Amino acid sequence: MSGSQVGVARELRVLREAIEEHNFSYYVLDNPVIPDAEYDRLMLQLQVLEANHPELVTSDSPTQRVGVTPVGGGSVVTHYAPMLSLGNVFSKSELLDFDQRVRDQLASRGFELDNIEYVAEPKLDGVAVNLRYENGVLILGATRGDGTTGEDITHNVRTIPTVPLRLRTENAPVALEVRGEVFMPREGFLAYNQRVLEIGEKPFVNPRNAAAGSLRQLDPRLTARRPLEVFFYGIGLLNGQIRPKTQGETLKYLHNLGLRTCPEWEVMAGVQDCLTYYAQILKKRNELPYEIDGVVYKVNALENQELLGAVSRAPRWAIAHKFPAQEELTVIKEIKFQVGRTGAITPVARLQPVFVGGVTVSNATLHNEDELARKDVRVGDSVIVRRAGDVIPEIVKVIKERRSAGSDPVRLPTKCPVCSSEVVRQEGEAVARCIGGLVCGAQRREAIRHFASRRALDIKGLGTKLVDQLVTRGLVENPSDLFGLTLEQISELERMGLKSAENLLETLNKSKSTTFNRFLYALGIREVGESTALALANHLCSLEKLMAADVKRLEEVPDIGPIVAANIRAFFQEDRNCMIVNQLMRCGVSWPQPVRLEFEDGPLKGKTIVLTGTLLGMTRDVAKQTLSALGANVTSSISKSTDMVIVGDHPGAKVDRALKLGVMVLSEDEFNALIKSDH
Ligand code: IVH
Repeated sequence: MSGSQVGVARELRVLREAIEEHNFSYYVLDNPVIPDAEYDRLMLQLQVLEANHPELVTSDSPTQRVGVTPVGGGSVVTHYAPMLSLGNVFSKSELLDFDQRVRDQLASRGFELDNIEYVAEPKLDGVAVNLRYENGVLILGATRGDGTTGEDITHNVRTIPTVPLRLRTENAPVALEVRGEVFMPREGFLAYNQRVLEIGEKPFVNPRNAAAGSLRQLDPRLTARRPLEVFFYGIGLLNGQIRPKTQGETLKYLHNLGLRTCPEWEVMAGVQDCLTYYAQILKKRNELPYEIDGVVYKVNALENQELLGAVSRAPRWAIAHKFPAQEELTVIKEIKFQVGRTGAITPVARLQPVFVGGVTVSNATLHNEDELARKDVRVGDSVIVRRAGDVIPEIVKVIKERRSAGSDPVRLPTKCPVCSSEVVRQEGEAVARCIGGLVCGAQRREAIRHFASRRALDIKGLGTKLVDQLVTRGLVENPSDLFGLTLEQISELERMGLKSAENLLETLNKSKSTTFNRFLYALGIREVGESTALALANHLCSLEKLMAADVKRLEEVPDIGPIVAANIRAFFQEDRNCMIVNQLMRCGVSWPQPVRLEFEDGPLKGKTIVLTGTLLGMTRDVAKQTLSALGANVTSSISKSTDMVIVGDHPGAKVDRALKLGVMVLSEDEFNALIKSDH
């Protein structure tokens, strides 16, 4: 660097630091110290200086929020620690139960507490994000995805003014994964929708969708125009610094790094305080500049959080206390019957559109024949519609007083509305089904949609409309036909150019490399959901074995009862299904061989094992299933009878306890070696 360049570099640094400090005062402290015009002047000065010295522009400069459009964007990223979701309570008594459970669980681990200290925070109604800072610089932004892996949205989160591109500290942690919620404040949402309406486009239904849609934009210049903001509320990974000891300290720590936290959080001395806080926030709800749908309580001491652990994907140390369901009055315009993937006929009420629970609702499911009869919903009826939180809207009741004379009760059709096959309701079943199977267009369409869905083969770009066209034109009758589609066939579909057709072919091709459990789930065998598919994959390992397994063998797989076993058997006894499966194999659908797990005589038979901390290589669910498949008994608390403790990242107090009791402690690598040694 020449002497003058050194001077310019210094000037740039001073300017950038000044701007960052003003950003912090403005966005994080909500307390600007200079007028906007002055800030704009500093920004302009920086832009001019950088334009004259492009070689000195750095990616974390305040001028570099909007970078270049990513090609292909949205690649998959794995979170260091899983992003958990939250259990819900809707009432005081459910909350008291939660608190009791927390106290009982802590007591059973030797910590008797009269009152649990919690941190209460508003439950922000936005989109969860995970940001990674390395040595203080923002290097990655991702969506929550399925909790383990999410989508890379770095280019878009960089455009959010409240997301610092560099942490405000001299002493940055080596690595920090920070979790927060991106949201669109009410005012920004209204103004944005107003503009959208003026140019004749479709507005967003609510601020949450607006935030989600904006983050999904491929072009960050578009995201930059959306009024997005963020609040941070947790840490996924912290390397190179001591982790704060409480949730309260975590929030302060984040705030000091320049990461904005919601100012409404408070420490609660016990569950009674939580109830008071809830009532206060509920009153304040409509005055807050952003939408919230409840309150989150988190056990304050991280040590206690660690002791409590998590069940499936929700922590035992936190709970969302949702605001009461919102209800509205509307009118039934029509009752239709939809045909699902398994032929199930579902009555659906078409409603006079009504704004409830934050969205416009125009359909509500009536579930099944009995529900239809129980509620006695008729065309023309006035009804109360409820939409509680994220759940699907439902009809609470009919206002019979307003019913016009001469209306008739609605009956389930005896013939399928799509293919005219017979509709049959088997004894003991709540649902009636069209018996048309894959002859029925609706069932074909749904089976293919399921096959392509995110948690199945994840064929991106194969949306509902496309599947509809493929089925209606007779191009696709079963999932394996998807892989026989030609460029010509695809590009002739509506709204399909050559380029998008090429892309679809490529995604189809990529989707052939999958995992055994995803493949099993994708087949859509009745009552085989994701976790059953995983259990089958882990225990039977190969398709041949699975196809040959009799009901008895299937029932040996944990969590598979006689009904599911019979469904699986029946599926593979059907020639047509076997043919489709074989065809899929021939098309090149493949997966890595799962670890062979033998549960009868596994090397861990009868051993009691505890998992603690975050495993980097697999989710806790998979680790648990793997262990129990090897014969182990996985428990959550350590006692003298524990044989082994497997320790992941951020293990917490359990390790100390294990060492004290002289229990064997295994690292993640040792654990991997252990499960692999069985085959
Ligand atoms: S904590 C371990 N805190 O709620 C707990 N979540 O239902 C994980 N959310 O995916 C989340 N405000 O998108 C937490 N103050 C808050 C939150 C919050 C909103 C969202 C978040 C999460 C979802 C779980």
